[in-house]
Amino acid sequence: RTHDAVVSTGRLPARDTIQQMLQDAYTRFRNGDEGRVADYIPVLASVPRDLFAVCLAGIDGELYAVGDAKHVFTIQSVSKPFVFALVCQAVGLEQARCKLGVNATGMPFDSVIALELSRERLTNPMVNAGAIATTSLVPGETADRKWQFILDGLSRFAGRQLSINEEAYRSEAATNLRNRGIAKLLEGYQRLYFDGLESTDVYTRQCSINITAQDLSVMSATLASGGVNPITGERVVDAVVSKRVLAVLATAGLYELSGEWLFETGLPGKSGVSGGLITVVPGKGGLATFAPPLDEAGNSVRGLQVTRYLSERLALSLF
Ligand code: DON
Repeated sequence: RTHDAVVSTGRLPARDTIQQMLQDAYTRFRNGDEGRVADYIPVLASVPRDLFAVCLAGIDGELYAVGDAKHVFTIQSVSKPFVFALVCQAVGLEQARCKLGVNATGMPFDSVIALELSRERLTNPMVNAGAIATTSLVPGETADRKWQFILDGLSRFAGRQLSINEEAYRSEAATNLRNRGIAKLLEGYQRLYFDGLESTDVYTRQCSINITAQDLSVMSATLASGGVNPITGERVVDAVVSKRVLAVLATAGLYELSGEWLFETGLPGKSGVSGGLITVVPGKGGLATFAPPLDEAGNSVRGLQVTRYLSERLALSLF
């Protein structure tokens, strides 16, 4: 009954209500068997399909977790908003906007046509073309410096030192011809700001960073609190950067299903092919789910179900 959804009060509900709702959502959706685990990167194909976690971090640092909250998986596309935020912070919002684009493509995450159809050859930082361009804009003269900048920045979002999953990196690096092709196209259009193959390599590393659902909730809460990590208290990006990143997430975080997602949850979110999904509740906190089976667009099926449910039950929608 979506017609009588509760209206947001500006605060998260009481702690025991949250804990109970998370448990409720977990129990309700844990046995869902829809969707396919991504297999286009060989190493992802072997991930157990029943892993499931639901986590929430409040902007005051309170943490809630149900299920496989500490299971380690690769961050994949959920890295995109955080790298975009770090780049906006480093080069300025206007530079980032005119060099990367901020309009939704309405097309799959690895679309080439989206780039071809754009008169200005711009997509947005949440799809592969725009994300590889974003990575190419990361400060640093060499690929290694760029990579260190990203690893350090994402670690500050998570509030702990992160590391790469070498096996996942090698598996994707050996099979990412499409992304290399996208990078070469961008390079040809002068929409890449570093070498194409090296940019793709750094992007592939960034996707291979090890993460947990609990980490993702903290990273998401950092965007919810205007750029301050609620656990460490560190300011990772300025509030204005955080706000603009969320605007892009709202229109493009779930690829061609971004409109449906906003319609249903009323919140900015970002999905990834390993089954991670973050949802940012500005001024309140960050929700993160992990469940590997994906829908046709590459979004976690149980992640979508849980988030829709919690958005309504906890009155999280922005609207
Ligand atoms: O670019 C790729 O293919 C992956 N490493 C990341 C893609 C991804 O997670 C898109 N998500 N739905």
